[in-house]
Amino acid sequence: MKSAAKRTATMIDSATEDFTDALLEGLRTAPKSIPCKYLYDEAGARLFDQICMLPEYYPARTETSLLRAHAAEIAALGGAGVEIMEFGAGCGEKIRILLDAMDRPRAYIPVDIAETWLRTAVKRLARHYPELRIYPTVGDFASPLPWPTRSDHRRIGFFPGSTIGNFTPAGARQFLVGLAGILHGGALLIGVDLVKDPAILHAAYNDAAGITAAFNCNLLARANRELNAYFDLTGFSHYAFYNAREHRIEMHLVSRKAQLAAISGNAITFAEGETVITEYSYKYTVGEFQALAASAGFSPRHVWCDPERLFSVHWLGAP
Ligand code: AVJ
Repeated sequence: MKSAAKRTATMIDSATEDFTDALLEGLRTAPKSIPCKYLYDEAGARLFDQICMLPEYYPARTETSLLRAHAAEIAALGGAGVEIMEFGAGCGEKIRILLDAMDRPRAYIPVDIAETWLRTAVKRLARHYPELRIYPTVGDFASPLPWPTRSDHRRIGFFPGSTIGNFTPAGARQFLVGLAGILHGGALLIGVDLVKDPAILHAAYNDAAGITAAFNCNLLARANRELNAYFDLTGFSHYAFYNAREHRIEMHLVSRKAQLAAISGNAITFAEGETVITEYSYKYTVGEFQALAASAGFSPRHVWCDPERLFSVHWLGAP
């Protein structure tokens, strides 16, 4: 008989294996890269929460005020008794704006990769909404989603934070096609960061307090903590810039010297100045994003933007 401790150990082992494999694969391919989902261990999720409070990081607060300002309209579009699925739920603050405005939502299904973080957020939420059925799901929302494509209830997807920007446009389209199947006849409420003055973008990913740098460098610290890995944490620098041609922020770790890292007995060499891509964050115009959503089968119904046009929140009808 398997003990609870044994089951837990098996779960951790498979997560460790995934991270090891992803690191080895990404660091043996030119140009070097690490999938951005590994930024979000518990320490990373906490750092991201701090990023959301930075003066330079406009996306979080702009999206939150858009949701607040238009909550009644959003609730009316949603209708009564819906199931809400949230992807990359994070600290669970934005969902409360929706839950407060909506007409007796019947269930809330948050999906997040940071397990402890998700459980804490869900516990807090359950205290505030004792009537609401909550089904937390730990997992990577970018891999095939485990939900049946049919439900007796209207489903609303909530995908805030411009996390869609982590996909390439082709990847985003593919992800939206998958969501369209799950949301069948419902709708998707999605936050999308907009193209803008590169100086504003640059500041948002190069904050003065160095929190974004710590968030980026945590990826290697995490490998040292969790894996049989060695990275010299003083040997890499945070580097983020806006690639205007590609409409994306690129976040990199730059090797400050010729050096070796070790992962499970495998040596990885870095040349001086070589970079590791850790995240892309694509920016869209409203028109570009609506066209992308339409190409995935959604019908753009509404879009809300702040007066400075920093950020957009879209209501997309699911086919
Ligand atoms: C939550 C992935 C959308 O790209 O702006 C913040 C993550 N990275 N600062 C973003 C992030 C650096 C964020 N996303």
